[in-house]
Amino acid sequence: MMFCYLLANEVATGLIFNFPRYLHYMIIDFRSDTVTKPTEGMLTAMASAKVGDDVFGEDPSINELESLAASMFGMEAAIFCPSGTMTNQIGIKCHTQPGDEIICDESSHVYQYEGGGIAFNSGSSVKLLHGDRGRITADQVKASINPDDPHRARTSMVSLENTSNRGGGSCYEFAEMKKIGEVCREHKLAFHLDGARVWNAIVANNESTKEYGGLFDSISICLSKGLGCPVGSLLLGSKDFIKKARRIRKVFGGGMRQAGYLAAAGIYALQNNIERLQQDHDHAKQIEAVLRQKEFVGTILPVETNIVIFEVKDKYTPASFVARLKEEGILSYAISPTQVRMVVHLDIDATMIEKTIETIHQL
Ligand SMILES: Cc1ncc(COP(=O)(O)O)c(C=O)c1O
Repeated sequence: MMFCYLLANEVATGLIFNFPRYLHYMIIDFRSDTVTKPTEGMLTAMASAKVGDDVFGEDPSINELESLAASMFGMEAAIFCPSGTMTNQIGIKCHTQPGDEIICDESSHVYQYEGGGIAFNSGSSVKLLHGDRGRITADQVKASINPDDPHRARTSMVSLENTSNRGGGSCYEFAEMKKIGEVCREHKLAFHLDGARVWNAIVANNESTKEYGGLFDSISICLSKGLGCPVGSLLLGSKDFIKKARRIRKVFGGGMRQAGYLAAAGIYALQNNIERLQQDHDHAKQIEAVLRQKEFVGTILPVETNIVIFEVKDKYTPASFVARLKEEGILSYAISPTQVRMVVHLDIDATMIEKTIETIHQL
């Protein structure tokens, strides 16, 4: 009976007709670095976490994670939230008043991919700058600050993204961020970093977390991207800022209770998964190298970290290329009518990279 059920199930899913391929089946998922599953070490840390009610400030694991993250960046305080969208949006809400204006690059996650949250949550408008692969300059920022005129929105904040997701994992030169910081101080603008992938920038450029902490008023860092946690982001800032953020998190519905199980994954990731990001960057370079050999690949954005964005042309469209790779168990993402994105992460090992390179070679 059980055998009949399994057989029917196999036929229904089409696997039995692809039996030889099924035998070698391994899904290699390059769609995003958010797809990772916790490793055994991380799961063990989670299972043995000490927890309490975090809305009462009584979860020891969350308290430990918040102090650890804040101290790594030399910042006074931190708050644990369910997502990077929430940490960015809380940051923006804390720094602005309705009717204010935020300066950021046109491809920024805070503007493009947070559901219009800047308008919805903060009632603020946005001045979008055309940067270089997601990176804006101090001169651009300076030229975009509105004059103190009742007709104009009050410019109150600058938000950078490092690395830039749509910029193909591009990294800011630290010196340029410093210059933007000076403009912010001169004009009394809050300076926020969407550091969803700041660890990739730090590892790629051998930067210091403390320098970041000294530069920005608020930093959002994600644990559920390159660091491999199932959930979680932190917003870092001064004590007063985080006190305000705690109130806004409650209003946004982000106050969690025994979420120390998730914080334990975060502590584990901060202690174990940062240095290994260099491997992801090396793997991304290997993918870039094979793509360079293919005539159907156009411009490839310079690969600086773990993201590879490239144009697909001639015999493939992005959609047909993604579909062709999927037949081989390799998942990628058509991010525009002309481009495909592949993101390398903790769950992609050297064997998977080899298989991907071999497959692309044969296309
Ligand atoms: C640059 C950047 N910022 C913020 C986020 C938001 O993170 P979350 O998906 O946890 O809301 C993402 C998500 O991919 C991102 O790429």
